[in-house]
Amino acid sequence: MDFPNYRPRRMRRSVAMRRMVRETRLDRDNLVYPLFVVPGQGVAQEIPSMPGQYNYSIDRAVDAASAAFDAGVPAVILFGIPENKDAVGSDTWNSDGIIQRAIRAVKKVVPDLTVIADACFCEYTDHGHCGVLIDGYLDNDSSLENLGRAVVSYARAGVDMVAPSGMLDGFVAACRESLDEENFENVVVMAYSAKYASAYYGPFRDAVDSAPQQGDRTTYQMDPSNALEAIREVRLDVTEGADIVMVKPALAYLDIIRTVRDEFDLPVAAYNVSGEYALLKAAGQKGWIDYDRVMMETLLSIRRAGADIILTYHAVEAAKILARR
Ligand code: PBG
Ligand code: ZN
Repeated sequence: MDFPNYRPRRMRRSVAMRRMVRETRLDRDNLVYPLFVVPGQGVAQEIPSMPGQYNYSIDRAVDAASAAFDAGVPAVILFGIPENKDAVGSDTWNSDGIIQRAIRAVKKVVPDLTVIADACFCEYTDHGHCGVLIDGYLDNDSSLENLGRAVVSYARAGVDMVAPSGMLDGFVAACRESLDEENFENVVVMAYSAKYASAYYGPFRDAVDSAPQQGDRTTYQMDPSNALEAIREVRLDVTEGADIVMVKPALAYLDIIRTVRDEFDLPVAAYNVSGEYALLKAAGQKGWIDYDRVMMETLLSIRRAGADIILTYHAVEAAKILARR
C-alpha cells in the first residue's frame, strides 16, 4: 500500500464516495438534552453564560422537552432548582419536589421520551456541596442513604433513568440497591463514573446556583491529571451495577473516553458540559467561527473518541441539522 499504488485521495473525490467510507457517524439517537427546571409558571429565563439555554418552570420545560422530542432527540436529563435549599438537600426526596413534579409532567405529555434525572445534592443544599457536610468535609456514607431515598422517589414519579453525579464512593451501589429493594429493577443507572473537578462547569453552576459556598469539589471529583484512576472509577461503577458509564467533561478528556471505550463493554456516555457550550456560543456570536460547522465537528469528535451517547446543550440544534442530511 505505497504511493503511487495507493492514492488516498481516490476515495475523497465525490460526496457519495466520502459518505460510503465514512467511519464515524453522528446520529440523533445518540443525543441527550439537559433541561433546567425552576419553580413558578410561564418562566423561561435565559441563562446569561449559556445563550439559547433557559431556566424553565415545569410547564415550559414540558414544551421544551416536547420540542426536543419532535426534533428527534430521544432523551432529556432534568436538573432541578428547588424553592428551598437546606443543609442536606431534602427536596431531592420530597415526593412533591421540583424534579418529581417535572418528571410526572414530562412523562404525561411525551411518554416516549426517555426521562433521566440527574441525582445529586449540590442544587439542593444551602452550602452547594454534593451531599451532607460534617465539619466542612463532605461525609460520604451519610449522603448515600439520602441518595437512595431520592432515586426511589424519582422512580415513583416515573423516571426511566437516574444519573448519580456526585462522585461519592458507593453512589452507584446505593442507587441500584435502593431501586431494587422497592421493585424498580427496570430503572436504568447511568453513572457519572469519571467526572473531573473541572472549571468547565462554571456556567452550569450559575444556571442552578450550585457553586460551593466554601471550598471546592476537589475532595470528591477527580484530579484532571489522572487517567489510570478513571479506569478504577469506571470499574467500581460497573461492579456496583451501572448500566451506562460516563466521562465528563468531554473535550479536554477525549483520551479518557477512548480508554474507557477500549477497556469496558458497557455503553459509554460523554457530557459535553456547559463551559464547552459557552466557548462555541461566544465565538459563534462574535462571528469568529462558523458555529454550526464547529458544533457538528465537535460532537463528531466525541463520537470518534468512542462515546455512544452525548449529553449536550447543542442537542436540539444538532438534531435539526442532522434531520436535513
Ligand atoms: C452536579 C452536576 C454538575 C454538572 C452536572 N451535574 C456540576 C458540578 O459538578 O459542579 C455539570 C454540567 C455542566 O457543566 O454542564 N453534580
Ligand atoms: Zn453535585
